[in-house]
Amino acid sequence: MLKNKCFEFLSCPIDGSDMVSLGKSVCCVNKHSFDVSKEGYINMLTSDKRFKQKIGDVKDMLLARSNFLQSGYYNFLSEEINKIAIRYLQNNNNKDGCILEVGCGTAFYLKRLKDNIDNDLKKEFCYFGTDISKEAIKISAKKYKDINFIVADTYFKIPIKNKTVKIILNIFSPRNPEEFSRLLDDKGIIITVIPNENHLNELIEKFGLVKVEQEKKKHLMDALDGQFDKIEDYNFTKKISLKSNSIIDLIKMGPSYKCLNDKKIINIKNMNKNLLEVTASFNILVFVSKSR
Ligand SMILES: C[S@@+](CC[C@H](N)C(=O)[O-])C[C@H]1O[C@@H](n2cnc3c(N)ncnc32)[C@H](O)[C@@H]1O
Repeated sequence: MLKNKCFEFLSCPIDGSDMVSLGKSVCCVNKHSFDVSKEGYINMLTSDKRFKQKIGDVKDMLLARSNFLQSGYYNFLSEEINKIAIRYLQNNNNKDGCILEVGCGTAFYLKRLKDNIDNDLKKEFCYFGTDISKEAIKISAKKYKDINFIVADTYFKIPIKNKTVKIILNIFSPRNPEEFSRLLDDKGIIITVIPNENHLNELIEKFGLVKVEQEKKKHLMDALDGQFDKIEDYNFTKKISLKSNSIIDLIKMGPSYKCLNDKKIINIKNMNKNLLEVTASFNILVFVSKSR
């Protein structure tokens, strides 16, 4: 259930007005109402967009992602994200605000960031995770009671008030520059993570998987260029050694999910009796608004 003090950050996805809690639902002054689920999340997709909640990641992908991330292989990435966020908050520790992950999936990075901020800065913020997949939000809301979860479409309206967000995490998920610009407070930052072109290349070659999009960074820069300046840019690469179960989870949680049939799974298990060394390679970019 949304914490009381976090209600002040919510806004109606239809008309942008303030929201109040009515217990099992939240409602705006113009009577647009959204149900609060028994797990405590709010589905704020408007009725004409509800079909979209089936567009995001499906349960099988989410469980694979959760397994894989909980095994710790990408902890190094989460630690780098946290360092950037904490450094930023230390230098801009002014007024209250919220921290948002769009397309949060199983909220692995958001939860680790929250725990890190709680421990190191002893400062309370409101944390929001949004995703278009109702299944993702349901799994996350069951697991992390100290974060507020909302089903919302990044390409439409993210139901949070203008200029209230200190940090937007945008990790391997879609982005919407107009919405990001509306949400960020004057000093706010976007921390974006994309895979580098050599990310998982051993797996891609060995099992014929979907390749990382060429020029991904250029497309990202082109998309954000009008409204944001890039202020930091880091590359991190690490070799990770994977057993076949983790390989299967890693394939299932990503864009090659659909090419993983039973035959391929048996193949992976047979081909891979030993550990397989795989390159994990990420680009973290930090952006601020040009109009700040
Ligand atoms: C590759 S996953 C990344 C999840 C999480 N950020 C992480 O790194 O663990 C991409 C996520 O974006 C979500 N997504 C896809 N399209 C979306 C949209 N239009 N609005 C919100 N979320 C979306 C998917 O459901 C999925 O959970």
